[in-house]
Amino acid sequence: MADAQTESNHKAGVLEGGGDESIVPQTQGLWVRYQGCWLRPLAVQSVKIVQEQFEARPDDILLVTYPKCGTTWLKALVFTITNRFRHAITGDDHPLLTHHPQDLVPFLEMPYRQLHPLSDLEKLPSPRLLSTHLPVTLLPPCVVTLGCRVVYLCRSPKDVLVSLWHFIYKVNKNYSIDKALELFSKGESSYGPIWEHNLGFWKESISNSDRVLFLKYDEMMAQLVKHVKMLAEFLRVPFTEEEVRCGVVEEIVHLCSFDKLKSMPVNSSGVSDRIGGEPMENSSFFRTAKVGDWANYLTEEMAKKLDGIVEEKLSGSDLTF
Ligand code: A3P
Repeated sequence: MADAQTESNHKAGVLEGGGDESIVPQTQGLWVRYQGCWLRPLAVQSVKIVQEQFEARPDDILLVTYPKCGTTWLKALVFTITNRFRHAITGDDHPLLTHHPQDLVPFLEMPYRQLHPLSDLEKLPSPRLLSTHLPVTLLPPCVVTLGCRVVYLCRSPKDVLVSLWHFIYKVNKNYSIDKALELFSKGESSYGPIWEHNLGFWKESISNSDRVLFLKYDEMMAQLVKHVKMLAEFLRVPFTEEEVRCGVVEEIVHLCSFDKLKSMPVNSSGVSDRIGGEPMENSSFFRTAKVGDWANYLTEEMAKKLDGIVEEKLSGSDLTF
């Protein structure tokens, strides 16, 4: 997180920048509303640059997540699957052994593009693996018109809330779980509301199933081999019978497993600044990875409140958690 002064200065800059009616300064918290989505003030500037300047390529693959839904895991899996002919999975020099998964697939909107220009992405060879937390409504239009493929990973909102709370609490000890629930239930959280984020890609995955693969964290955890095969099919690099027979799928599952990644020195130590001016511990992306961990932090009443809101917001769709 940025220190409070930097944050409030930039917030003032954005809100007073004036003229942009899509920014609604209606929060006492960390976020402002931009085109219907809650974003941190610095992120708004970055998203605008991405929307206006990012040049998609038809063969780009976009990994999309709401924060804390398993971005790090998805990056590790997709990188490993798509690069398995270049980087042997059991090789001593596999990039995952020396790079944090977050750094193997760059984000569109991070580091903040007003500080780090998009030209870094332009230099990447095709097909590019890219990631974003943007909801479908904020994606640069070229991503949609060019038909780029999207892998979307979502997760039970209660587990997302608890994971997010831990992540923020690490750097802001005043952020109570009650406050986190209060804001999250109003949709106020980076890239929120979460239900709109989920629903947007859910609908896209139904109308464009060859272009958008919709995955759930809990289902992936329960059936890893099946999902790794599904990912490879969707990414047009299906496993051969020989690979399946030799256990390549299981090797990928193992290399990208929570325990394996968490134990690697590159992920368990040190800090990195992936946003711009906000160093975070590399280990903060690996906590427990337990499905249903919310039960250790939310009372029955808190859980009921969030469940009720999410159910109501998703009603009319077949999407459930
Ligand atoms: P918890 O806080 O519940 O443990 P993101 O990568 O989007 O920031 O999401 C972080 C969440 O994914 C954390 O959840 C983290 O522990 C979990 N995670 C990280 N690596 C994982 C992996 N290899 N497999 C499953 N979950 C993983």
